Amino acid sequence: EHFRGHFPTGLKGLDAALCGGIPFGVLTELVGPAGIGKTQLCLKLSLLASLPTNYGGLDGRVIYIDVESKFSSRRLLEIGLRSFPEIFQMKAMAQEMAGRILVLRPTSLSEFTQSLEQIKVSLLQNQVKMLVIDSMAALVSGEHEQGICRQQTLSWHISFIKSLAEFSRIPVVVTNQVRSHNHDDASRYSFQVQRRDGTMEIPIRYDSHLIAALGIHWAHAVTTRLVLEAKSGQRFIKVAKSPISPPLAFPFHITSSGISL
Ligand code: GTP
Repeated sequence: EHFRGHFPTGLKGLDAALCGGIPFGVLTELVGPAGIGKTQLCLKLSLLASLPTNYGGLDGRVIYIDVESKFSSRRLLEIGLRSFPEIFQMKAMAQEMAGRILVLRPTSLSEFTQSLEQIKVSLLQNQVKMLVIDSMAALVSGEHEQGICRQQTLSWHISFIKSLAEFSRIPVVVTNQVRSHNHDDASRYSFQVQRRDGTMEIPIRYDSHLIAALGIHWAHAVTTRLVLEAKSGQRFIKVAKSPISPPLAFPFHITSSGISL
């Protein structure tokens, strides 16, 4: 049993379905189309993890792997100010909280690899209570290796990330962007990755309720998969894979105070 409990997201229905929230010690994947709110959710989770425990936080540091430069300190502080004014109205406290989130911007999987060992040490030494990778597909897209060799390298990285979660027993939250090519055929999905040099698409297979993200090894490595989607102007977060929850969907909104139900 790897779990050391669950980390509440503040989205009440979702937390109830997941027996308390995002599980510790395993990988949780947030999947959805561009602009649906994956990064907004990551920002909120990072903020929550940095908060003192009497505010429901983990009172620790967060390592945020920001592959596509989506992380925004301004937005983080806005969410903080709106959600926890008592803390974030005090400038020193706001800075302290924001300073707990270490943002890394590796430009390739190999660069990320080089920081992995360092991250491993940090996780133990620096009170790191959560790891966010936003996004995994973008991180992998820079690799030009093809075929079996690429799969093997990827498998190694996936195993490493999974073991990081296991030995440090922290929640590891990973995003991935998907897009339906054809609304009548949900089996055709691809990752869409925006890089500085343009947009690229990585075809993936959509296997009933499981998105075989980054290959089958990735699909198995992820313990909890949450799919974010919009229908008739309403955003939903859906439990697509979980050892404890049935496939439930919960409506959510994005406001100035962040993600809320
Ligand atoms: P990609 O990063 O493109 O993959 O999408 P994503 O799923 O990460 O989307 P993201 O989390 O960036 O959410 C984008 C959505 O959040 C936008 O469509 C806005 O509706 C909302 N949003 C982003 N910033 C703000 C903000 O400062 N205030 C408010 N009210 N909404 C915001």
